[in-house]
Amino acid sequence: MGEPQPNIVHEGILWPTHVHSEESLRYAREEFQVRGDDVFIVTYPKSGTTWMQEIVPLIYSNGDLTPVLTIQSWQRVPWLEHKYSKMLLENRPSPRLITTHLPYHLMPKSFDTSKAKVIYVARNPKDVLVSFFHYHNMATFLENPGTFEEFFHRFLEGKVMFGCWFDHVKSWWPLKDQDNFLFLTYEETLQDMRGVLVKLGEFLGKQLSDNAIEAIVNQSKFNNMKHNKMSNYSFVPKELMDQTKSNFLRKGIAGDWKNHFTTAQTEYFNSLFAERTKGLNFTFCND
Ligand code: A3P
Repeated sequence: MGEPQPNIVHEGILWPTHVHSEESLRYAREEFQVRGDDVFIVTYPKSGTTWMQEIVPLIYSNGDLTPVLTIQSWQRVPWLEHKYSKMLLENRPSPRLITTHLPYHLMPKSFDTSKAKVIYVARNPKDVLVSFFHYHNMATFLENPGTFEEFFHRFLEGKVMFGCWFDHVKSWWPLKDQDNFLFLTYEETLQDMRGVLVKLGEFLGKQLSDNAIEAIVNQSKFNNMKHNKMSNYSFVPKELMDQTKSNFLRKGIAGDWKNHFTTAQTEYFNSLFAERTKGLNFTFCND
């Protein structure tokens, strides 16, 4: 037997095999039956997925902390494309909360004709790149990132796991004016959690009491999540995620790219960003 494959290429995108397979990705696209009351949290990795996996269940529990203190994040809001998705999602009562890193064109065929809701969270791609680099250093199921300079170019060429950041955001962007689509950013959540909670409450049709808002704001603070064993990935063995190298919940700030990018890298990134997002009014988070 040869070495286990660390990744597969599916539809031109690299996927780590510890949780993805050809079959799980095909199941997500071809067989998964979307329900009209499903709620999808959609992100490119390192954009605030785990954060939303904390916030959204707390909205549904009206601020009761029990679900986030007793159920692992990947179980409370399972990934659509993972190997265990069928087992966790198929018979789950509605409304199902589902996570996905899929670009729009790989979503279930049944999604297009449904009224399922999508919460799309985007983050400044410079910070995504930095966070992803540190994640690659601690997660053995991802490829070795090499030096920061090497990873920087691989990221911008879209030759990283989960595909190209530009392609991901651009694939979802055309849905932005639909009633069943809410576009949020990591940065606005950081700046104004209450405002984001109001938006989410309205979007999901949930009236939140002041006490519930208080509880959610508090529980979803970086430091509280960092100590929540159901959200900080401390259950994952060191052979898969070595949190002595970098914590899964690492810094939780905006602008850490400034501590990593050289002037030349910043200029190169900015010119490529302008070119790749031309005409899209993508001013949301690239300062
Ligand atoms: P950093 O590596 O920059 O710290 P994802 O869940 O999509 O993998 O994203 C992980 C990033 O979101 C990490 O960024 C992590 O620290 C950050 N994050 C998670 N929870 C957060 C919170 N409550 N507040 C701020 N950032 C958070």
